[in-house]
Amino acid sequence: MAGDSLSVTDNRTGRTYEIPIADGAIRAIELRQIRVDDEDFGLMSYDPAFLNTAAVRSAITFIDGQRGILRYQGYPIEQLAEQSTYLETAYLLLFGELPAREELDGWVDEITHHTFVHENVKRLMEAFRYDAHPMGMLISAVASLSTFYPEAVLVDEPDNRLLQAKRMIAKVPTLAAWAYRHSRGLPYVYPDNDLGFTGNFLSMMFRMAEPRYTPDPVLERALEVLFVLHADHEQNCSANAMRSIGSSRVDPYSALAGAAAALYGPLHGGANEEVLKMLAEIGDVRNVPAYVERVKAGELRLMGFGHRVYKNYDPRARIIKETADAVFDVTGRNPLLDVAFELEKIALEDEYFVSRKLYPNVDFYSGLIYQALGLPVAMFPVMFAIPRTAGWLAQWLEGVDDPEQKIARPRQLYIGPDERDYVPVEKRTAGDLVAV
Ligand code: ACO
Repeated sequence: MAGDSLSVTDNRTGRTYEIPIADGAIRAIELRQIRVDDEDFGLMSYDPAFLNTAAVRSAITFIDGQRGILRYQGYPIEQLAEQSTYLETAYLLLFGELPAREELDGWVDEITHHTFVHENVKRLMEAFRYDAHPMGMLISAVASLSTFYPEAVLVDEPDNRLLQAKRMIAKVPTLAAWAYRHSRGLPYVYPDNDLGFTGNFLSMMFRMAEPRYTPDPVLERALEVLFVLHADHEQNCSANAMRSIGSSRVDPYSALAGAAAALYGPLHGGANEEVLKMLAEIGDVRNVPAYVERVKAGELRLMGFGHRVYKNYDPRARIIKETADAVFDVTGRNPLLDVAFELEKIALEDEYFVSRKLYPNVDFYSGLIYQALGLPVAMFPVMFAIPRTAGWLAQWLEGVDDPEQKIARPRQLYIGPDERDYVPVEKRTAGDLVAV
């Protein structure tokens, strides 16, 4: 085999294999032919946490972590954040192209008219404890939607898939806002179809006795930017969950509830909360140098810094920083912002952070904005889940339509006991238990 191939010699047998390389990858299944003898199952690749395994071919999002590049369908995130809206970006992610004017108007109109949920969903949410975590409520409420739309199981029908996708993009903000209202003991606010996507969300969150809520245009736009920035991030933990669950051909509400559950974890959607805790602990600009020394001594990590993929300034962090300035002009300056600025300044000049390529990530400033909007930290992952709904759905739609995909089913390296005989309980002694 000439050119794009990999020659592999198995030193156990001395045999050499030619493995094709396409798009900078070899197919792991090619390794299966490498066997010691006929009894041998064949060689596998072992890759915990998928550090070097591409599991999909995707046209949705491109990231170059070394150069700090993020693009949706080829469009730089900076241009989308500046010029696009969340719903237009969602259309781009789902359909692959920016919509023409009439397509966009039709899309916005449809999403707007799917924002209401069945009254029984309201009762379901009311059943949660007064102090229920809003993310737990959101996950449950999303899962419950599958029972209201039983036709959603027909995932092989493209029109049906799209209808469910529209419903989810439209209804998740309603569920998210109601989870917040529940945690505050406030009455739930119904959607206002005369408002835009983020304006309506702010209305459902914050409207009180006024007959009509008028969102502040700066906050409305800031939220739009945050939603665009969070709409997708290729094969991260929750996108992988969405695709993996969806690969069983379950309905998309159940898959999306699983994706949201993956996002709930502190290593994924919860880091911005840790940033706020850290900034509050530092408390004052004067304490920053001492805190940085503790980080360098390995005592703690600088939260909101570093990224598995970005080894450069996270492009989203740069945009969020600018958005924060606009928000604080309206809400008043968050005193912790000065601590954040000082921390960033010192870290970006310090050899420890420079040599390890540690830069602010998307979470460094987003929590400060959410706090300025008056949101409790428990709502932070919920604020992430709302826009990521579009990304999860785009990933799911691409996955269910991909002829190369099958039900996700990794292999394992078995490290448990060999075959052994069952021992009746009377004959066992304590301490014989094997942890599973
Ligand atoms: N503060 C101080 N040192 C750090 C930090 C940090 N935030 N992040 C990494 N390092 C150091 C490590 O100690 C290590 O140093 P060493 O080589 O001397 O041992 C080196 O940088 C490499 O770190 P890894 O842990 O190997 O990097 P990895 O890619 O596995 O981790 C992660 C990425 C988890 C994001 C990490 O940088 C981190 O914990 N950051 C803080 C938490 C955070 O902000 N998470 C949000 C990520 S963005 C998102 O998920 C939406």
